[in-house]
Amino acid sequence: MKNSGIAVGIIGFGTVGAGTAKILLKRQKEIQNKLGSSVELKGIADLDTRTDRGIKLRKGVLIKDAKKLLRDPDIDIIVELIGGIRPAKDFILEAIQRGKHIVTANKALLAEHGQEIFGAAQKHGVEIGFEASVAGSIPIIKVVRESLIGNRIGNIYGIINGTANYILTKMTDEGAEFTAVLKEAQELGYAEADPTFDIEGIDSAHKLTILASLAYGIPISFRKVYTEGITKITPLDIEFASEFGFKIKLLAIAKPSGKEVELRVHPTMVQERMPIAGVNGVFNAIFVEGDAAGDGLYYGKGAGEMPTGSAVVSDIIDIARNIKAGVSDRMRSFNISGNSGLTVKKMEDVKTCYYLRMSALDKPGVLSKISGILGKRNISIESMIQKGRKKEKAVSMVIMTHEAREKDMMKALKEIRALKVISGKPLYLRVEGGNA
Ligand code: HSE
Repeated sequence: MKNSGIAVGIIGFGTVGAGTAKILLKRQKEIQNKLGSSVELKGIADLDTRTDRGIKLRKGVLIKDAKKLLRDPDIDIIVELIGGIRPAKDFILEAIQRGKHIVTANKALLAEHGQEIFGAAQKHGVEIGFEASVAGSIPIIKVVRESLIGNRIGNIYGIINGTANYILTKMTDEGAEFTAVLKEAQELGYAEADPTFDIEGIDSAHKLTILASLAYGIPISFRKVYTEGITKITPLDIEFASEFGFKIKLLAIAKPSGKEVELRVHPTMVQERMPIAGVNGVFNAIFVEGDAAGDGLYYGKGAGEMPTGSAVVSDIIDIARNIKAGVSDRMRSFNISGNSGLTVKKMEDVKTCYYLRMSALDKPGVLSKISGILGKRNISIESMIQKGRKKEKAVSMVIMTHEAREKDMMKALKEIRALKVISGKPLYLRVEGGNA
């Protein structure tokens, strides 16, 4: 049993690093009272030691060289907050080899190299806390790993990228174009200078990979997650969606059935009555079905200095409790296990309903050509809207289908696109109903 305080070293003094340091310093007394021992912020490493982060540190705490923290024998927990793969991975692996526990917010690293990192942690008997890697302040890792441990987890639907949700919300509220809203989001600092991971669904796919591994006991399978972004969405689609009673959201979806689980991230039409349709702006929410607990919707701030810092600190304290109690594998026993035997379903076999929008000439026989192609592939039309009448000119035609197989839909769309009466590429969106 360790009686002295717990020493923490943070690598990366950006937004989340600053939030974490602020909480640790501001709440030092309360933490000590609740934990029964002190948590000391021994050092912070960042190449930039000059920028004012609005926090007063003791002299010598902020240093440039991360290796000094990794090699400091007094430090118990290394907090990695630089993000990205390299050098974050090297720092984490070295810290693990030196017997230090890890806290990280790095979803890309865990989703892409988690198997290796968790393997190393297991070998060296250290913990990895990663609450901050998914949905910022929402304690969804603890929910899935601990609170719902007695449940068979069913479907998961997540809005787990605040940037994409902010953009879609603004487009919906103001009828604005995607590129204009993205530019504004960048100016306001909501979107990164390089927003690729957010708008192309990659960030959501990283987070879904981590959640799914915990929820279903499957290996960390980022490469198997189907990923599609929101760049193709237009105000016209949002308007049509509304006419059908839907909102468009970037959803991270996990659906187990039989021996397989669907893992997909794509813009999705969700029924307006579904609670997740009401999650707007930069907020995140995750809907989780538990066979014992029932349906749950976990909602909150998914990003930002203090919300993400709050999640990082929760892991630091969790690990500090373990160190105090002299146990080293309490969290590890809940970690990524990968042994349930479920495999990830191929996207081409997934079945959903679809929204299709195409630009078609308004003349006799066009609709029968389109419905013929769909019918041939066993795709049944549920409803259809065509706006205006512009003879010999292209008009927007929208079709909602019943459930169809992805493979059949992709083939049908290829054929429809090749029709002379269709101009441009038909747009498709997948549709979700249910209770989420
Ligand atoms: N870039 C993420 C988002 C925040 O926009 O939600 C960090 O996970």
